[in-house]
Amino acid sequence: MPTEHKNLFPSPSLDDKQVEPLFVRACRRQPVERTPIWLMRQAGRFQPEYRAIREKVSFLELCGTPQLAAEVTLFAVEQLKVDAAIIFADILLPLVPLGVGLKFERGDGPVIERPITCATDVARLNIFDVQEHLGYVMDSIKLVVKSLDPQIPLIGFAGAAFTLASYMIEGGSSRNFEKTKTFMYTQEPAWHDLMTVLSGMTSRYLNAQINSGARVVQLFDSWVGCLSPEDYRRYVAPHMKATIDGITPGVPVIHFGTGTATLLDSMKKAGGDVIGLDWRVELGSTWEALGDVAVQGNLDPVILLSEPKDIRTQTERIIREANGKAGHIFNLGHGILPPTPVGNVKYLVELVKELTTH
Ligand code: CP3
Repeated sequence: MPTEHKNLFPSPSLDDKQVEPLFVRACRRQPVERTPIWLMRQAGRFQPEYRAIREKVSFLELCGTPQLAAEVTLFAVEQLKVDAAIIFADILLPLVPLGVGLKFERGDGPVIERPITCATDVARLNIFDVQEHLGYVMDSIKLVVKSLDPQIPLIGFAGAAFTLASYMIEGGSSRNFEKTKTFMYTQEPAWHDLMTVLSGMTSRYLNAQINSGARVVQLFDSWVGCLSPEDYRRYVAPHMKATIDGITPGVPVIHFGTGTATLLDSMKKAGGDVIGLDWRVELGSTWEALGDVAVQGNLDPVILLSEPKDIRTQTERIIREANGKAGHIFNLGHGILPPTPVGNVKYLVELVKELTTH
């Protein structure tokens, strides 16, 4: 950012010392000059530069090497000109120190080597020190913050307890979550013990990220949409409330899930300053029903595989639904898909900036 311009055209409302970054203000539902935008999976396989790095190092090596993780994080911001950075890491990294074993197999996604099947497995989990075992993530965060424009905040993140538990019980990705739900229904005390371990760990992990320089945090409950509202309230909501209550006060929390149309009200009650919306819901009426909370979303990532005119139509609709209300953060409803053309992502970012500047 050219500082000379600031001196030539001093703008009291844009003074770094007085005003928080655009994205942070939107999380707090404060008025903004335009709608901020960032994109889940803004660093990843859709970028040829990312794929080139991955030719040389494995995914876990990349996450575990702060210099490389910082480079990948910063490159996405420079390339796409988004309003926030998100630290390059993965929600499954804590599974290693918890002791269940984790590998990423090409094409197959994550594999958990010793899945959880019973109360004894839960009792054996290692309650670890986050700085000691995940210190490399904190080191990546410190490196990123050092090079980042102060107006571009860094988002820290973690998996929410249900989504982490689902990987630990299924042993990897799942379609119907049979093992997870059966565990939940038939071994309820062990389920709550597992969720308690995960929610405590998650708050400590996010607080360590905040202490290292993350200005906002996002909880990814990607798969919680497989539950009924009643089951969500019984088996998940108290643990999400505990996780969120344990996060350093004053730092905005984004509470994200997919397929959550029927859960949004309970998710909001569990906590979070910003609620993630996917494309299965209409942003305007859903936000109206949710009431006093910020929202993030909700373009279908598949739209980015089509033509600029289709991207424009859908983006205009979302912006129309947000209706200029304070507290909208533009994003996709889920992460950028690997076959997405980089040009389409750049186009979307420019378009949101152009359509919402007032
Ligand atoms: O740019 C960013 O958004 C930050 C980095 C980030 C990654 N994963 C990098 C990644 C974030 C925020 C995540 C979150 C994550 N990881 C979630 C929640 C969001 C979601 O997508 O629902 C989940 C469920 C995971 C678990 C995970 N990680 C899976 C199932 C896989 C394999 C399948 C897949 O999408 O590739 C990963 C691997 C992973 N995490 C990659 C990246 C860039 C691809 C790894 C590669 O380079 O081969």
